[in-house]
Amino acid sequence: MTEGSSDGATSGGSYRAAVSRRSLLTGGAVAAGGVLVGGAATAADSSGAGLSSPGATLIASSVEPFHGPRQAGVGTEAQAHAAFVALTLRPGVGRVELGRMLRLLSDDAARLTQGRPALADTEPELGQLPARLTVTFGFGPGLYRAAGLEARRPTSVADLPSFPIDRLQPRWSGGDLLLQVCADDPITVAHTQRVMIKDSRPFATVRWVQQGFRRAAGAEPGRTQRNLFGQLDGTANPVGAPLDTAVWTPDGPDWLRDSTTLVLRRISMNLETWDLLGRPERELAVGRRLDTGAPLTGAAEHDAPDFKATGPEGLTVIPDFSHITRAHVTDDRLRILRRPYNYDGTPTAQGNADSGLIFASYQADIARQFVPIQQRLAQKDLLNEWTTPIGSAVFAIPPGCPPGGWIGQQLLG
Ligand code: HEM
Repeated sequence: MTEGSSDGATSGGSYRAAVSRRSLLTGGAVAAGGVLVGGAATAADSSGAGLSSPGATLIASSVEPFHGPRQAGVGTEAQAHAAFVALTLRPGVGRVELGRMLRLLSDDAARLTQGRPALADTEPELGQLPARLTVTFGFGPGLYRAAGLEARRPTSVADLPSFPIDRLQPRWSGGDLLLQVCADDPITVAHTQRVMIKDSRPFATVRWVQQGFRRAAGAEPGRTQRNLFGQLDGTANPVGAPLDTAVWTPDGPDWLRDSTTLVLRRISMNLETWDLLGRPERELAVGRRLDTGAPLTGAAEHDAPDFKATGPEGLTVIPDFSHITRAHVTDDRLRILRRPYNYDGTPTAQGNADSGLIFASYQADIARQFVPIQQRLAQKDLLNEWTTPIGSAVFAIPPGCPPGGWIGQQLLG
């Protein structure tokens, strides 16, 4: 889907127009940081001419809409690469400065997602293959405080209760503003991250960045992705109307309607001790088969698990300590949408992996949906033997914006 923009400030490579538009957006708070390379700021050639194969062309030139009532990057089919960038607002940044920053960052996102370089983009060629780029903005509790708008903070966007399994590290936790950058091409992600961090410099510092990946785009079309334990991960996610009910706020003031929330947990997965398990133990820990992802009581991935079925010894086939028994909910208002990414850091000198999940959970209400599931998992989930939450952050994902608008406008405007 291609969404055109009527803003022609950079078409024809007009540096002066670009800079003055930029000054307008930032209210003068940001000095123009770069020079447009001649002729580079034209719209991307969405025909993808010159790319190696029709499949590659399609992946590289595919566009997700930026404008709309809801932000992209939540209901969007997950792209192969992601960077979650959490920023800390500088002292003195209040409602007015936040408005300037979000105007500028929304403009960057509106352009880059459509395959057009950002204003004064120092590497405009890198902005031309969007590869389904989405940029999703998240507001942490600190942003509402800085803006003096605490009364408008969704109540559940607040510190989570502490869970006994948590071993949280400040270097992966918290954040005032989140930029969730996802695309099917890692260069597009890196470039977008760079542009947006540069443009946020006058207003914020980088608190943490978490980069993650899933299967390459087109590698297994339509299949559930696998995590680094080898499990199919995402099978029981809500789709269609249940997804809408679980994730989006249907009504309320215009800064809440069509918003959602995100809980981002960095969960380390101990591949060394997981390696010591046999296949049956691994399958009992989750309650599903590793090859097909079918529940232990079924034959195919999407068969409904039967938590009451018993085996010859009278025990339930899916143990009550298994991950899916503990996490399962049926009421759509209590479900969550999981959109996790794998991470794989540098192994230790001994060769021990530094791997895990950047676990992203979207729901209308964190307290009603995420917290009870996490509490049940923290009490009793065999998977806890091999997994440890080491980072945690919560964000409101505010509504989207129409062309010409900016993210956060309903809240701050
Ligand atoms: C590293 C940590 C985790 C791993 C490796 C993991 C893995 C899995 C796997 C393999 C499944 C079964 C397939 C599927 O439906 O996706 C699953 C299901 C699920 N997980 Fe996790 N998970 C992790 C953490 C969490 C956390 C922190 C939560 C929420 C607090 C959670 C909530 C769920 C839910 C709601 C389901 C679906 C249950 C059902 O209705 O069948 N998971 N997870």
